[in-house]
Amino acid sequence: MAVLVTGGAGYIGSHTVAALLDRDEEIVVLDNLQQGHKEALLGGKLYVGDLRDDEVLDRIFTENTIDAVIHFAANSLVGESMKQPGKYYHNNVYGTLCLLEKMNEYGVKKIVFSSTAATYGEPEQVPIDEYDRTQPTNAYGETKLAMEKMMHWFDTAHGIKFIALRYFNAAGAHENGKIGEDHQPETHLVPIVLEAALGKRPHISVFGDDYDTPDGTCIRDYIHVSDLADAHVLAVDRLRTGADSAVYNLGNGQGFSVKEVIGIARTVTGEAIPAIIEPRRAGDPAVLVASSQRARTELGWEPRRSELEHIIKSAWNWHTSHPDGYGDSM
Ligand code: UFG
Repeated sequence: MAVLVTGGAGYIGSHTVAALLDRDEEIVVLDNLQQGHKEALLGGKLYVGDLRDDEVLDRIFTENTIDAVIHFAANSLVGESMKQPGKYYHNNVYGTLCLLEKMNEYGVKKIVFSSTAATYGEPEQVPIDEYDRTQPTNAYGETKLAMEKMMHWFDTAHGIKFIALRYFNAAGAHENGKIGEDHQPETHLVPIVLEAALGKRPHISVFGDDYDTPDGTCIRDYIHVSDLADAHVLAVDRLRTGADSAVYNLGNGQGFSVKEVIGIARTVTGEAIPAIIEPRRAGDPAVLVASSQRARTELGWEPRRSELEHIIKSAWNWHTSHPDGYGDSM
């Protein structure tokens, strides 16, 4: 029995493949390598292809005995989704439809889904729990919510059980030093701050210091990518016990401001990291912090790398040993 990991060569996908390898799961990866990196795959059988390609999906499901799917493959840039919503609907929503149809055709009944806090939009309360209102403020979040809803109806009609994991802010890198975060372009705070520490950027731009928060900068809940990976493995286990479909938040439940992240990065790296205050970035909520109580209780998930300093240290280790990402592995 194999687990199919779509988008398994991406940032969170590759860390999840590593977690599955640790317990000797048979792994099949589908990745079109647009964002993913072959070098990020520490094992598993790779099919290079697209979810919307009927032929490659048929090959995967006929050549392997797939028992469960972990579905990462998607576009995930908030800003880009506002400029090209069609790209997001086509790849994310239609791609997921192709996958679910194929799972139904081949009788595969379990899927763990990479969802996002962007499904909530501007939160009604903090910390956010899974019963809160979902009202995305960007096309990316809207497509992820549409994908969750599609899974609900495939469960109702065909009994395909899903666990949707809504991540807050993924950061950090694997402790083995071999895999980490390498996005082109990079838009996330932690890697950008570390690129500034490495001198690859002249400074970090802080997007707004006039939010209604103690230091005026946005607060986020940073979670180690390997803790996220562990949650996917637990979710597969839970579906294998015959559990019902569910949605879980994944975060540490503790918020850090942009200025605090920069401060900790200065301590970790020993670099000055110049910061410049710039205007707000469109669509940024002031505070996003998760209540992950449900994941702890029902999945038995316990984040083990919660300290932000530890998360940033692990990312720094990756950035210093791979200054050009996978393009320059050392
Ligand atoms: N930020 C800066 N300067 C930068 C980059 C980011 O000040 O150069 C700020 C942002 O304005 C935000 C915070 O740092 O306040 C975190 O920004 P990220 O881009 O790292 O992360 P987001 O919270 O915007 O987005 C993350 C995921 C999305 C997901 C979202 C859910 O990357 O995929 O959480 O809310 F949709």
